[in-house]
Amino acid sequence: MKLLSASLSAVATAFLLSSTFIQSANALSLTIRNDVPGNASSPILYGLMYEDINRCGDGGMYGQMLRNWNFQKDDSGTKDPSTEFWSAVGDGAKIALDDSVGLNDANKNSLRLDVSSVKTPAGVANEGWWGVRAQPDETYTASFFAKANGYSGKVNVSLQTNDGTVLASATPEGKLSSDFQQFSVTLKPKISSTSVDNRFVVSVDSEDAVGSSIYFQVFSLFGETFADRENGLRQDIGKALNDLNPSFFRFPGGNNLEGVSIPQRWKFQQTIGPLEDRVGRLGDWTYWNTNGQGLLDYMYMCEDMGMEPILDVYAGYSLDGSSVAEEDLGPYVDEVLDELEYLTGSKDTKWGSLRASHGHPEPFDIKYIEIGNEDWFSTTYDYRYKTFYDAITKAYPNVTIIETAEQSSRPWDIYDDHYYLDTKAMIGNYDHYDNYPRNGTGIFVGEFGTNVKGCCGNSSANLEAALADAVFMTGLERNSDLVKMIAYAPTMKRVGHEQWNPDMIHFDTEAVWLTPSYHVFQQWSINRADTILQVDHSDGEFGPLYWVVGSKKETAQIFVKMVNTGSEAEKVSFNLKNAAIHSQGVARVITGSSLDDENTKDKSTVTVKESTFNMDTLTSFTYTFEPYSATVLLLHLQK
Ligand code: AHR
Repeated sequence: MKLLSASLSAVATAFLLSSTFIQSANALSLTIRNDVPGNASSPILYGLMYEDINRCGDGGMYGQMLRNWNFQKDDSGTKDPSTEFWSAVGDGAKIALDDSVGLNDANKNSLRLDVSSVKTPAGVANEGWWGVRAQPDETYTASFFAKANGYSGKVNVSLQTNDGTVLASATPEGKLSSDFQQFSVTLKPKISSTSVDNRFVVSVDSEDAVGSSIYFQVFSLFGETFADRENGLRQDIGKALNDLNPSFFRFPGGNNLEGVSIPQRWKFQQTIGPLEDRVGRLGDWTYWNTNGQGLLDYMYMCEDMGMEPILDVYAGYSLDGSSVAEEDLGPYVDEVLDELEYLTGSKDTKWGSLRASHGHPEPFDIKYIEIGNEDWFSTTYDYRYKTFYDAITKAYPNVTIIETAEQSSRPWDIYDDHYYLDTKAMIGNYDHYDNYPRNGTGIFVGEFGTNVKGCCGNSSANLEAALADAVFMTGLERNSDLVKMIAYAPTMKRVGHEQWNPDMIHFDTEAVWLTPSYHVFQQWSINRADTILQVDHSDGEFGPLYWVVGSKKETAQIFVKMVNTGSEAEKVSFNLKNAAIHSQGVARVITGSSLDDENTKDKSTVTVKESTFNMDTLTSFTYTFEPYSATVLLLHLQK
């Protein structure tokens, strides 16, 4: 096994311990060795880690625009269901939650509208997730179940501003009756600008409705979704995720897999099938998770974005510190095997046929299974890992198994290593895997993010964090023969409702905006090499410059990824061995005016600037790297 630049690590680490951002004394000259074989780079190196944290699932990437849409629990997940986020519309309307009238076993109550007058339309209104976004040219699809006592006429559906101006309205086919029926309709507002101070209203205006009670359950409102998926992703958030060119998707946690207690773990059975059959749970991040977005929806995301699913399965440990005893693990193992059969079984199997009935007859291919999450928190991983490992590999011998902590009971294929460190420590880890044993197992950096104020979750998403991320990722890519996959975490936050900072993607009801770390991750991911090339250096060491160079055969490209953590511009001369390059290269530079720079909704200070630069000869060029910058140079090989 060849280790690239490993000998530099001790020197650079010593520098870093004395100063976070340092400057080099000498100009650097690098020789890119296309004349000696490089290490193969993992083809799925860059991907996504997902869990519902920071309101990024319900009220985030899940495109459902209505809040408390099935009245299963209050928003905190700890109190009885209520009418929160709903209000009565019109002088003759009163609303209440009625637990004597339910839709089905999953939804044993309903929202009751008592109509005493229709001088103005009488109805129910939902305020959405901090508003209901209405955008020009967007079509909205609404549905709900309803029945009535004492009225058998039509209902009306509308999008309105909060002061009652109707933006769009439509009347669904069909009339109310004494049995629940599902109504659906599309709405197309005629508006010229985006607004969020809106509400969703279902109302009646017929005199025949006066004196009646109308019961509602399982509401739904979606705008256009990513890849046009039914029950899919909010389009702009889906696009931001997809634009990262992710190769894998680890889900559903993180902590949110594990439950605050054993009974509160994520359970796949509650997340599948029609919306009216789904049962929510109290998520680990202290709010109610509706499970409107569930296992099959995540798999559709994988299909739509071309991502390999990394299925993280509950392994008998929950965040209150409790572990399922070894002799009691049976039902939990069965749950995982059922989940795997649901995903991978043929239509002839019990769970495979259920999946087919949910709309996906073709079995999925699950290549990676992660057993648990951060199980170094517990002392019981040995027996838990062993039990799950034995059952899973017996049924699926070819699957790649990921462990989340060191254990000695059974083999593993990949170890999931997490990094939430401050700037200095993150940069100091750029060489962490240089001398790591190459013994056939791999590394998954399943969660990382520079927390400039240190672990965990109270730091800015600023340029300093992005540059430290870039250095760390450069080290991971240099070692991407060993490091198979890496994912930033947490991926997203709803601004103002976050539980962990920093995050890569920021959004509110109206818009999505991208952090400096997003731009770094994206540039590192979209400019992906298949081979990591050896780089010889003279006159200089790592720090303040950190680099990785790779080639991609299919497109005949060489990518130079360079991070300058110093406050001075750094001129580097490059020579290529056994590679003639086109006379012009492309530079993509991420920088700002200060390490504190952050992008906000109104102003993106740190973005990607693209320019071209010229070669000196067929095999040499110089490039000056801006202070505090992360840069990708794209070179084209002459054929
Ligand atoms: O990313 C936030 C949390 O950090 C994850 O849920 C957990 O796996 C880690 O501790």
